[in-house]
This record gives sequence, structure tokens and C-alpha cells, in this order.
Amino acid sequence: MKSESKASAPAKIILFGEHFVVYDKPAVVIAIDRRAYVTVKPRSDSKIVIKSAAINASGAFTSNGEYRPIEGGLENEARFKPIYLIAKNLLASSSEETGLNIEITSSIPIAAGLGSSAAVAAASAAAIGSLLEINLTKNDIFRLALEAEKLVHGNPSGVDPAISTYGGVLLYRKSEGIKRLNIESDLPLAVGNTGVKRVTGDMVSHVSRLRNQYPTVVDRIMDAGSAVASLGVEALKSGDLKTLGDLMNMNHALLCALGVSNQAIERLIAAARRSGALGAKLTGAGGGGCIIALSTPNKVHQVVEAIRHAGGEAFATTKAPEGVRIEE
Ligand code: MEV
Repeated sequence: MKSESKASAPAKIILFGEHFVVYDKPAVVIAIDRRAYVTVKPRSDSKIVIKSAAINASGAFTSNGEYRPIEGGLENEARFKPIYLIAKNLLASSSEETGLNIEITSSIPIAAGLGSSAAVAAASAAAIGSLLEINLTKNDIFRLALEAEKLVHGNPSGVDPAISTYGGVLLYRKSEGIKRLNIESDLPLAVGNTGVKRVTGDMVSHVSRLRNQYPTVVDRIMDAGSAVASLGVEALKSGDLKTLGDLMNMNHALLCALGVSNQAIERLIAAARRSGALGAKLTGAGGGGCIIALSTPNKVHQVVEAIRHAGGEAFATTKAPEGVRIEE
């Protein structure tokens, strides 16, 4: 066993297809240049102690799986549980009998639709695997992160762990898995955070209820979402930013029809579009969280400023080719 191991994994934005992807429609997802870092060290006892600087919290899972808070309260158990389960899973498949200190640092806003929990899960799996000298493939890391994600919300499509693991630009479909898209062109993107935190599982349940109530309408909205994603792949390949922007606007309108937008999101989207963005949409589960806006390269800072002016935390970003990686 090593004495320390560190890994990182990227945040993501969904360009097309959030929510629809839960119902086996295609999504286009992009890793961005913000990452979660996880450092793991062995302990002389059998506890698994997890600390996150991002949420100012730490706590220990004892050998019988009980959570004991150190900083912060019991509410952090749910956040740390997926990491604990990844650790237990990997410890069970190694011959090492050890506890672990797991430390998370991250530049990814939390509960904001940027895939922070999946990035932490993928980086945790990679770091713990490396510490225990278990040879994990990317596919193993994806599976471990997906199992963990199932605890975060009951019915995940797998799109978040897939992009955190593989990075780049992916076309993802539940029944078909990932297809890497080789996109040459730069994608000048502004991300705006409403600052409104929400629970992905609640938003996914809301869509599920709506679909049960109005299946003929919701299925058509989702079919339209598929058509948007297919055209989006073509526009990405040809670097046609104008068409991408139009398609993002249409995708957002479909998400509005599903009731996952709100006033805070609409305010930031309107500001981005007014300031010259080619297209803007919510990204992730909605109900708060982040919006993304695409612009021409010379306008991205203007769009960032407009989102800030409308009350959002905003930053410019671009695609990141690398998924989960060991940092040594
Ligand atoms: C969350 O980033 C994306 C959703 O489609 C949920 C999922 O795919 O698991 C809302």
C-alpha cells in the first residue's frame, strides 16, 4: 500500500438532454476546467474519516458503518456516504486492513448542476484504488461512481459519472453508453450560478410525476429533446456556433415545459441573451443551480459581466479534455 494518493476529476455541463437522458434519450455533455481533488492516506485504526474543505465538514464512519460528525452535523452523512461506500467496496477487494483519511478540495460549486458529487465520487474511487494498488480501469471507476450516484439520487442516468470519468465531450445514452465526440472548435461558454441550491433527486421525481400524469405530451417533449441533441452533435462537429445557440434555446424551452426552470434561472438567461449570447439554457437538473450561455469568443466576458450584473456568480469556461486522473 502507498502512503498517500491523490486524484482529481472534472465538473461538467450538459449542453443538451438533461432529464431526457433519464428516459434513455441522448445527452451531449462537456467536461469543464474545474476539478474536485481527493487525497487519501491510510490510518492506523479502521475508521474512514472524510473531510471536505468545500463544505467545512468532516466526520468518521466507524467499522460498523455508523457516522460520527467531527465538524458540522449529522446532515453531512448523506453527502459523505457515497464516498464511504466506494472506500468499503475497494477495501473489500484488497488484502489491506486499514482505515482511511479522505480529504476533498474542490473548485466546483456544490448542488449547482455542475456534477460536483460525481466528480468527487470518481476522484475518490481513483485515489483509493491507487492507494491500495488496485488496478482500476476507467470503466471500473465509472461503475463505482455510478453506484455511489444511485445513493445521491435514486434514478441517475449515469451521465454525470461518465463525464467525470472520461472527460472531453461525450454523447451519452443510458442503453448505449458513451461515445466520445472529437470536437475541434473552441466552445466559449459562460456559466452563471443562481446560487439557489436544489436536490437533483427532487427535480428528477418532479419530471417523473409529470410524465406519469401526461405521458403523451411529455414523451413528445422528450422526442423533441432527442432531435435537438442529434442536430446539436452535427453543429458541434462543424463548429456551427450559431446553430448550437439556437438549439440551446430550444432545449431550454423544452425544459421549461417540464417545469424545471424558475425565476432565478430565467433572470440569468435573459441577461445572457440580451448581452449577445448565441444561446442560453439551464444545465443539470434545474430548479436553481446553473445556466450556461454560448457566445462568440470575443463576447464571452461581456456575457459573464451581464450575468453578474443580474445577480449570478459567473465565470468563463471551456472544455477540458481530461477525465479522472491520478495526481502525483
Ligand atoms: C443531472 O446532472 C442530470 C439529470 O438528467 C439527472 C441524471 O441524468 O441523472 C437531471
